[in-house]
Amino acid sequence: PTGFRVNPSILAADFVNMQAELARIDGADFVHVDVMDNHFVPNLTFGSQMVGRIQQTSPVPLDVHLMIDAPERWAPEYAELGAASVTFHLEAAAEPVALARRLREIGARAGVAVKPSTPVDGLYDVLDEFDQILVMTVEPGFGGQSFMPETMPKLRALSEEARRRGSAVWLQVDGGISASTIAQASEAGADTFVAGSAVFGSDDPDAAIRSLRAMASR
Ligand code: DX5
Ligand code: ZN
Repeated sequence: PTGFRVNPSILAADFVNMQAELARIDGADFVHVDVMDNHFVPNLTFGSQMVGRIQQTSPVPLDVHLMIDAPERWAPEYAELGAASVTFHLEAAAEPVALARRLREIGARAGVAVKPSTPVDGLYDVLDEFDQILVMTVEPGFGGQSFMPETMPKLRALSEEARRRGSAVWLQVDGGISASTIAQASEAGADTFVAGSAVFGSDDPDAAIRSLRAMASR
């Protein structure tokens, strides 16, 4: 594929038909799995038992997004069950670099996520400790919200910093990504695009993925 990835979020899928829903997105680069604990965000999804079954069932690798408190306690088990990447929130982590190192040791790509209003300049000196950085483009917690263009300067700054330092870190965006917003995120430096409603709301999810990827790489 290209250097642009589209990761459909199964938050927008039918949870009771997960196996069939996963089969509809077999052309995705990764499947984005949103774990919420009702504490870090005001919503609840599922934990490692469900994600373990998704890992066994999914035709594509898992990109796990942990919207939870105390990631030091919970994140490693998602790496251990075989997730390709595990992303925790900077706001929730006591020692983000130590946690990223632990995830890499287990064999996952290590990701760190920031909410729309969280600054990223503290990450510049430790970019190489992470495989991906997730800039949230909505307040985390729910699918179907509107993209926040005010997050783009932060993404652009991160992208320029990564380029300046020769870093290979992936820059991910999540929230409100659709045909009408993906180009601006791409232009600001994102290379990995999470899309929930834009993919699962389509009659042909794999076609929606291909079309989003094409719009991103333009
Ligand atoms: C929101 C989740 C997202 C969500 C995106 O907190 O992290 O992954 O599923 O959904 P859309 O693409 O519908 O905004
Ligand atoms: Zn997410």
